[in-house]
Amino acid sequence: MNVTFVCLGNICRSPMAEIIFKDMVEKEGLSASFNITSCGTSDYEDGNPIYPPAQKTLARHGLVGAHRARIMTLHDVINNDYILVMDTQNLMDVLRLTGGKFGEKIFKLCSFTADPRDIADPWYTRDFERAYADITDGCRAFLEYIKREKAAALDYDSRH
Ligand code: 4NP
Repeated sequence: MNVTFVCLGNICRSPMAEIIFKDMVEKEGLSASFNITSCGTSDYEDGNPIYPPAQKTLARHGLVGAHRARIMTLHDVINNDYILVMDTQNLMDVLRLTGGKFGEKIFKLCSFTADPRDIADPWYTRDFERAYADITDGCRAFLEYIKREKAAALDYDSRH
């Protein structure tokens, strides 16, 4: 299953989500079933590493990972099964890129939780712990959704 996380700059929320979700999947022994990436709807931070306050927040929770920011293209939409965006602006930007197509695989990350909401951009709020908590909640709910609704795909992967 190919999953890509998407935010605006691809230096805060989506690389945090990529690292958090990879860790979650690994701890459940499901790494072989997922290809997990992230990208941004803008080229503002193209080639830049994860923003240091985001890295520090991950480190406080025992997580490390490297990433270079990259703008999303239509290929990312075509090649992924799930495009998980952080907020309504991301959703509109991705749908603009696709001309309104592929809506069936584009979701706000927190739409899988009991409390669907946008994940506020910590670049502006400066609240990186809040972003970490919201992203973790979204990733956990998404993984539970996959285990519940796509168990056959996980089982298929485990046999190949
Ligand atoms: P992100 O945060 O979308 O969570 O990566 C941002 C990072 C950089 C900018 C905006 C948002 N920027 O304008 O450079």
